Amino acid sequence: MATVPAPVPPPQPATNQAQMNPLPPSVFTLPQTAQLEALYTIIRSKETSRGDFLFYSDRIIRLLVEEGLNHLPVVKKVVETPTGATYEGVGFKGKICGVSILRAGEAMEAGLREVCRSVRIGKILIQRDEETALPKLFYSKFPQDIAERYVLLLDPMLATGGSAMKAVEVLMDHGVPEDRIIFINLIASPEGLRTFCTKYPQLKVITGWIDLGLNEKAYIIPGLGDFGERRYCE
Ligand code: URA
Repeated sequence: MATVPAPVPPPQPATNQAQMNPLPPSVFTLPQTAQLEALYTIIRSKETSRGDFLFYSDRIIRLLVEEGLNHLPVVKKVVETPTGATYEGVGFKGKICGVSILRAGEAMEAGLREVCRSVRIGKILIQRDEETALPKLFYSKFPQDIAERYVLLLDPMLATGGSAMKAVEVLMDHGVPEDRIIFINLIASPEGLRTFCTKYPQLKVITGWIDLGLNEKAYIIPGLGDFGERRYCE
């Protein structure tokens, strides 16, 4: 007689926020669904090809950008529909722009452009100063009216938080208020998040996943390795 396979239990939502409980009030994660965990499992695997890494990390980036846009303020907006009726809806309150932290953050620009057509995007390059070992600004280029915009700051990995905090400092030096910046990343370490949110409590952070921690080389564990290498190198 054929044996009947045991039923597979239905997928359970991932509960990874146990890594950081409670979350700082300014931190928002994507809904921790089994689908999202499946996407992360693909991009974390060292066996995943570059093509699949691109495809599946882009899917997560798209979700993150959509979530980031949910945090922008709106104002009432009334429109007339083709039926002649009026519809009392909302519209975004202000202008936005993206700012990517080079080089890995550039990988998130296309995801932002997919949902915000002709969005302005600035860039910022921060590297470790060899003498002081502190993050140092090497290059920045922003829309000239950045101080009047909401800024979606893009960097896939929040490890120690050093580069992101330097980027925020530079943005604030250009007149962008802290509470008009939304920092979007794919994976965050609890220690990086804690340091970042303590320094900038009014700045919202949208992260896809909070991992266990950092290793001695400041890589996120379990993480996915070097995001830039996986994205740009065969
Ligand atoms: N940057 C990466 O690409 N990966 C890490 O784990 C940390 C920082």
